[in-house]
Amino acid sequence: MSQVHLHPTKDNFVEKSLVDNPKYQAMYQASITDPDRFWAEQAEKFISWYKPWDTVSEVDYHQASIKWFEGAELNVSYNCIDRHLPEKANQTAIIFEGDEPGNSRHITYQELHDEVCRFANILKQRGVKKGDRVCIYMPMIPEVGYAMLACARIGAVHSVVFGGFSPESLKTRILDSDCKVVITADEGVRGGKKIPLKKNTDEAIAGCPNVHTVLVIKHTNNATDWNSDIDVDYKQLHQSASTECAPEIMQAEDPLFILYTSGSTGQPKGVLHTSGGYILYAAITHKYVFDYQEGDIYWCTADAGWITGHSYIFYGPLANGATTLVFEGVPNYPSASRFWEVVDEHKVSIFYTAPTAIRALMALGNEPVDLTSRKSLRLLGTVGEPINPEAWEWYYKVVGGENCPIVDTWWQTETGGILITPLPGAHALKPGSASKPFFGVKPMLLDNDGHPLEGEAAGSLVMAQSWPGQMRTVYGDHKRFFDTYFSQFPGYYFTGDGARRDADGYIWITGRMDDVLNVSGHRLGTAEIESALVLHPKVAEAAVVGFPHEIKGEGIYAYVTLMIGVEQTDSLKQELTQFVAKEIGPIAKPEVIQWAPGLPKTRSGKIMRRILRKIAANEFDNLGDTSTLADPSVVEHLTKNR
Ligand code: WT7
Repeated sequence: MSQVHLHPTKDNFVEKSLVDNPKYQAMYQASITDPDRFWAEQAEKFISWYKPWDTVSEVDYHQASIKWFEGAELNVSYNCIDRHLPEKANQTAIIFEGDEPGNSRHITYQELHDEVCRFANILKQRGVKKGDRVCIYMPMIPEVGYAMLACARIGAVHSVVFGGFSPESLKTRILDSDCKVVITADEGVRGGKKIPLKKNTDEAIAGCPNVHTVLVIKHTNNATDWNSDIDVDYKQLHQSASTECAPEIMQAEDPLFILYTSGSTGQPKGVLHTSGGYILYAAITHKYVFDYQEGDIYWCTADAGWITGHSYIFYGPLANGATTLVFEGVPNYPSASRFWEVVDEHKVSIFYTAPTAIRALMALGNEPVDLTSRKSLRLLGTVGEPINPEAWEWYYKVVGGENCPIVDTWWQTETGGILITPLPGAHALKPGSASKPFFGVKPMLLDNDGHPLEGEAAGSLVMAQSWPGQMRTVYGDHKRFFDTYFSQFPGYYFTGDGARRDADGYIWITGRMDDVLNVSGHRLGTAEIESALVLHPKVAEAAVVGFPHEIKGEGIYAYVTLMIGVEQTDSLKQELTQFVAKEIGPIAKPEVIQWAPGLPKTRSGKIMRRILRKIAANEFDNLGDTSTLADPSVVEHLTKNR
């Protein structure tokens, strides 16, 4: 454990911040003592409703039944756009910064309104109605936001699939939620490299008989195959589409979107978020965690394909009437100064990124940062994985010039928004600690028997109280929702993470307790990668674990048993790596493949992953209890050939 430095929040920051420590204490107490009252007040303050609620919350974790603001009516796109127009029609809503420098544009709230209405009308023309699911497979261009908000406007449920996923992954997601319309682009561009989104979509929908429309945004204008029965050129319809589209009146508990995420078993789950609670939670966390104030230029570098992109590029900031930056590119293109050049160019004041990006840039030294000014920055944030104190210090000193607090925000696709984080004006910062619960969040640590642990302790991280942004179900599989999150510790929401609480009550996330990997902040199930590997005709069996990786946080380590008679060659390793990329996407490529003539199993045939993790991490001397192994020589062979 590295040494802990307490970074008192800067005095000049505290004075100007929205929430200081006494205010945090008071609001937190209120939110825990009388949650319904607290959330009713916030719901009135943050959201415009067509009709108020009958009840604030109705939650029963024993039934996995979660409802917020039942009876209330609203429209999320109205909250993100229309209500800002009287004062902010000409304020920039979105700054778009393209992959190549020098290609940026500003979209005002009025323009956003007109574009979203046009998009919504085009979707209606293609038969999309309230409740229908629409798949969005797009690069990071403003149209991805228009598409999401257009769905919200007409009550359709979007399912954004990350543009880095393969046709196969896209297909399973389209099928699972029975999307009949797919929105895509001809190509994406990242770091100068083209991503064939339309081609991938064509491959995917070859297996999706219900898809009747592929709406294509021509972005690079390179030629693609065209099937005029299904493919529709967005820009052709754009001109004639009306810039008016009345927002559909939605129930608070009507679904807003589905977002697929990996679990420890089976296919990715369709995490379902609903309208009222989600938008309130996205808005309030965006405001307080990032200390968002009028005039701020806010930039979150995530992709719209992840929950961070949903809550903190589009929904949260736009609900607050903010200016949010949408970046198409990557941190190191055309040079390692790119992030900071964009910060300078657009005078970004709040910057939110992933630890993996910070570590990758840190490895390139201080010079690319020092070449830029960054004097517009006042707050930094991280998300997605634990940040090691060394990377934290570099971010704080070199990027922030010791002037900007860092919020290390812990949350999940399932939680809709940030649950554990410092508030920048309220808490002294400890590098590597996600710190304290947000308002209305009641984290607890449990031991293996489910008993609450008090004081300094380490255990399973659970939530004892619901918050409005919590997911409501796994799309089409409520039993899986219950089994995954509410069965292990009855009466609590189990996060899947382990955590430690220190003497000051700060929370330190120790990582996943299940077979879920976090590679560069991307969440992947070991079971998914194993399933992909065993699809290959030369593979008999595979076991996948994570191992510590300097830049990615965690790397993918695959043990592969080949079919009898198949030769163990380096070129086959290459082939298998490409095979996984094709099945899932490049983010799932194993870093290391080790041939395993046998896998360590218990006598009942269960793979002992604990041992495989130790071998992958090069910790041979400490393999733990191996007495239940069916065949100890297997382990000996694996350690020798590591
Ligand atoms: C898992 C959730 C939250 C949006 C992006 C990832 C890990 C997330 C932190 C953090 C340590 C973190 C957890 C969590 N995680 N943030 N600040 N410190 N770990 O969402 O893909 O649903 O992954 O990411 O393990 O369970 P996700």
